[in-house]
Amino acid sequence: MSFPSGFLWGGATAANQVEGGWNEGGRGPALTDVTTGGSVKEPRYETYIDKDGKPGKKLQKQPLPDGAHYAVLDGYHYPNHEAVDFYHHYKEDIALFAEMGFKTYRMSISWSRLYPKGIEKEPNKEGVEFYRNVFMELKKYNIEPLVTIWHFDTPLYLEEHEGGWLNRDLIEYYVRFATTCFTEYNGLVKYWLTFNEINNTVMFLDMFGNKATDEDYQNAYQILHHQFVASAKAVQIGHAINPDYMIGCMICGITRYPATCDPNDILANRYGWEKGIFYCGDVQAKGYYGTYAKRLWDEHNVHLNITEEDLVDLERGTVDMYTFSYYMSSLETTHEVKDKVSGNFVAGARNEYLTYSDWGWALDPKGLRYYLEVIYDRYELPLMVVENGLGAYDKVEEDGSIHDEYRIDYYRQHIIEMNKAIEHGVDLIGYTTWGCIDLVSAGTGEMRKRYGFIYVDMDDEGKGSMARSRKDSFYWYKKVIASNGADL
Ligand code: BG6
Repeated sequence: MSFPSGFLWGGATAANQVEGGWNEGGRGPALTDVTTGGSVKEPRYETYIDKDGKPGKKLQKQPLPDGAHYAVLDGYHYPNHEAVDFYHHYKEDIALFAEMGFKTYRMSISWSRLYPKGIEKEPNKEGVEFYRNVFMELKKYNIEPLVTIWHFDTPLYLEEHEGGWLNRDLIEYYVRFATTCFTEYNGLVKYWLTFNEINNTVMFLDMFGNKATDEDYQNAYQILHHQFVASAKAVQIGHAINPDYMIGCMICGITRYPATCDPNDILANRYGWEKGIFYCGDVQAKGYYGTYAKRLWDEHNVHLNITEEDLVDLERGTVDMYTFSYYMSSLETTHEVKDKVSGNFVAGARNEYLTYSDWGWALDPKGLRYYLEVIYDRYELPLMVVENGLGAYDKVEEDGSIHDEYRIDYYRQHIIEMNKAIEHGVDLIGYTTWGCIDLVSAGTGEMRKRYGFIYVDMDDEGKGSMARSRKDSFYWYKKVIASNGADL
């Protein structure tokens, strides 16, 4: 096994899933702050007060009823409010990352901590200082921050009063936020990601048996266009502020296979890659929409508002690296599916050659190699796997130890496949495992879906001491990093 010297080993989190301190330090709310906890069977809800003053809840992505406004209600648990309280524990957590030997730590900046409503002209100083302190702490241990600018947390005000990303004005608000990040943390941060899993907006539209309407597609593609332009503008500004900045896209990387050798399935699979994976990567890495984009739009009668200036921005604002999350593969078929698998995030035909996690995610390390090789061939840019991990139930033994052999095995298999891709010529420069510390699940809002090397004493009802402890995987990953991937 050989990984290049300087390989960026580390772990990843997102502000809304670890930070907590939701109403401290001048922070404004985000949508996650009015989102309840759920489970693999029970969805998460967003809560509101309707026009007659009555409390209510709705499914995520569904519109607010007319005249209603989002609200935190009594009787519900909002796991992101406190999350795992990184806001107050960051020094302790970073010391634990350093003990594992992290070379990098992927984290995100909460937009509403810097711009509470999103529309302010000047940032919230306390928020700016919080992240400066975090970056200084990382510097103490020579841990390179890898910073996601937007990780699903648009300020609630922008969602509720400005129409969210369907409104073109969001480009300007985002660019102001990104510019603040690039300026304030110049010299402390080198690696940036503009949007987390930008492709989810379109890729997941038809999942779970909900047939998306043409209007859903129209909105999703327009939202994406605004985010592409925002990303491209940010890349240009970032490079002007510091030419050494490495700025990447971040794609939800699900490897797709045809379920049968029926040519209809082969074609459906190819088109699935285009719609789900390549659509965003092509715009962000090549600087223009792929030839197939028109076909995708025509399928749903989509007419986008794209200006000449936008096209120039897309061309000038291409990314320096391609990063992605990888958890699973999926099967594409045009045939009736008898054996269905349905996890949070992905639903479809079961792959009989794979096993599945307790949350229904296909465990497929070879799929990671497949993805790396396909993507490297396409873009020839440095790649990073910035999320990969196993959400699992952990058992705390009486002596406090946690024997998470399953997690070690999961990582071992994925690292072996990454190494093969490197041997085959892929320029892979880093690997940050998801949820290096236990955190709130984005999909289900659970704590019991644990990802960390570090256990956090916090449950799904918000009860626990927040004490941190080391799982077996903690010691294992430390060894992996110390040997640069040789000792698995
Ligand atoms: C990715 C997201 O989709 O998957 C993370 O970028 C998320 O925010 C991760 O936490 C795992 O998903 P979940 O639902 O298990 O938290």
